[in-house]
Amino acid sequence: MHHSIDEIEDRLDRATNLLRQAKNVAVLTGAGISAESGVPTFRGGGGLWEGHPIEEVATPEGFARNPALVWRFYNMRREALRQVLPNPGHLALVALEQRLRDRFTLITQNVDGLHAIAGNQRLLEIHGRLSRVRCTSCEFSRDCPGESLPALPKCPDCGDLLRPDVVWFHEMLPQDIWRKAELAVTRCDCFLVVGTSAVVYPAAGLVQTARQHGASVIEFNLEQTPASALAHVSLFGPSGKTLPEVMQRLRT
Ligand code: OAD
Repeated sequence: MHHSIDEIEDRLDRATNLLRQAKNVAVLTGAGISAESGVPTFRGGGGLWEGHPIEEVATPEGFARNPALVWRFYNMRREALRQVLPNPGHLALVALEQRLRDRFTLITQNVDGLHAIAGNQRLLEIHGRLSRVRCTSCEFSRDCPGESLPALPKCPDCGDLLRPDVVWFHEMLPQDIWRKAELAVTRCDCFLVVGTSAVVYPAAGLVQTARQHGASVIEFNLEQTPASALAHVSLFGPSGKTLPEVMQRLRT
């Protein structure tokens, strides 16, 4: 996507004006916002791990079939998270929350925990969090970032197998968190959609929900996505640059 400089300036100004006028802002982020932190996106690099399609590994069926393989996948991803830090895109969303306070809600599909590490509090992690484990049988759950876990971690309360506290394909989202996300989107008058391919539901449906409730939609992505058709302004470029640029303009 190549635009002339004044085209980019014009888009940035339009996005900034929509955000400036907003009373309530909701944001939906996907793997793209963490790409510049070194976290691989799902649909960028061919979506394979050790030759397994992620859909095979990140599923209840895959876990039932071969829990050791799935744990190897997740322990690798947990280890990888030790090296990553929030990038300026994450920090721009912390600044936006500090500006708007309770008129701001951040909804993320990401399980890397980087928004929490960056400092966002009004955060809804609708796909769970990689650093947290939970028991496959009882209510036990624990957030254990940075800890290396055994090949088949067992519940300290009941002895059954633990699993990563993330949403797998075909699984329900945590209902209380999902409902809060939907509510925030119906109430917002400006909706930012950042770094998501907008193909995984129900998260992707939030863009439509925002439009239906009259919100202005601003997309931050490297390329066109299904959300682009619903966006009033699409800012093409790395969100680690475009989000801070909008925040810069907002302050002037
Ligand atoms: P994807 O990998 O599907 O999409 C990443 C999006 O980020 C793409 O649209 C890229 O163009 C964009 N992108 C990449 N680098 C970027 C950058 N530096 N700045 C801005 N945009 C950038 O990831 P998600 O949309 O998050 O589900 O995937 C949604 C869900 O599918 C994930 O939450 C996961 C996966 O299965 C579960 O874990 C349940």
